[in-house]
Amino acid sequence: MFYIQKLKLINFRCYKDKKINFKPGVNIIVGKNAVGKTSLVEAIYCLSLTKSYKASRDSLLIQHDQPYYVLEGEFINKERSHSVLLSYELDKLRKRLLVDNNVIKKMSDYIGTFKVVMFSPDDSELIKGYSPQRRRFLDVYLGQINNKYLKDLSNYNKVLKNRNELLKKPNQNEQDLEVLKIYSEALVKYGINLITERKKFIEMLNPEVAKISLAISNETEKTELKYMPNVEKDDFLLKTFRQLKKDLYLQTTGLGPHKDDFIFEINGKDAASFASQGQQRTSSIALKLGLANLFDKLGMDNIVILDDVFSELDKERQNQIMQLFKEGKQIFITTTTIDSIHETLLENSNIIKIERE
Ligand SMILES: Nc1ncnc2c1ncn2[C@@H]1O[C@H](COP(=O)(O)OP(=O)(O)O)[C@@H](O)[C@H]1O
Ligand SMILES: [Mg+2]
Repeated sequence: MFYIQKLKLINFRCYKDKKINFKPGVNIIVGKNAVGKTSLVEAIYCLSLTKSYKASRDSLLIQHDQPYYVLEGEFINKERSHSVLLSYELDKLRKRLLVDNNVIKKMSDYIGTFKVVMFSPDDSELIKGYSPQRRRFLDVYLGQINNKYLKDLSNYNKVLKNRNELLKKPNQNEQDLEVLKIYSEALVKYGINLITERKKFIEMLNPEVAKISLAISNETEKTELKYMPNVEKDDFLLKTFRQLKKDLYLQTTGLGPHKDDFIFEINGKDAASFASQGQQRTSSIALKLGLANLFDKLGMDNIVILDDVFSELDKERQNQIMQLFKEGKQIFITTTTIDSIHETLLENSNIIKIERE
């Protein structure tokens, strides 16, 4: 069994100093608008991924006018307790992560230890929105199951940054061009790993997403992802060298997995161009549910968070969705009113009321 048992928040968003206990199984977080439901589940996400899915910078997570935030979580994994402490100090721009009281220097060494699958209302934007969101989806979830992917990604981004800086330098000399060649080779090396892993990941995820989408649409809609690599791995090296003149002219790297994308297909058709809001919602729920099921299939325990997603569904649909999750899993559901939650689910849940501090 895997779950988070305790959470402590200091100067995190609207929380000055708060301790909360959770139970294994379903935890329903109830409270009026803007009391801090999302902030609470965001804290759990941060403890797992070491950064937020909402805030672009850690400074935004600190309570207004405070110098730092601290999050502390106690995770129970196979009957063993583990502590995770994440903090950020504004003046030193210092982020710290301690796991079982050991300092973790590289966040990528830790990510994936305690896995989280987050459902948020913004998920449906994945289908019609811009590609950076979809790349972030790949990085967050593939990164949790494949540590080498995270390392390749971090190396790729470093090389990409250096290469772009050199492309911007005015009047490159012979030596600069030599260095550019080395950067190009490194870019292709790491990039090929990213393309290979993304392809594999989407291939593994698809049967799960297809199964779930069919189950929640009375067998009428089958959602699948289709990977759209910006460049095929076998062409990457050659094309990068061919493209060098253009890159020099445009002063940026035009080719590579930093421009990858994927599309959603419903029954084989591109969902971005026709899916209704309802279909977008079902497809994005199928995506995340499929993901949680894929993690489980790989033997990777995970916590599921449904922020403001669940209470929007009718009770029959809620029931159906709950049955598609692996039994015993810890699930967080946020809602403004318990009236919107299915009665049997309420009976078997830990209900946590949040009031304005
Ligand atoms: N950095 C911050 N410092 C202080 N308050 C914040 C910060 N970020 C967000 N808030 C406030 O926290 C409150 C709770 O937000 P949220 O967790 O999204 O509420 P809920 O999900 O319950 O509607 C909001 O009033 C929001 O303005
Ligand atoms: Mg909210």
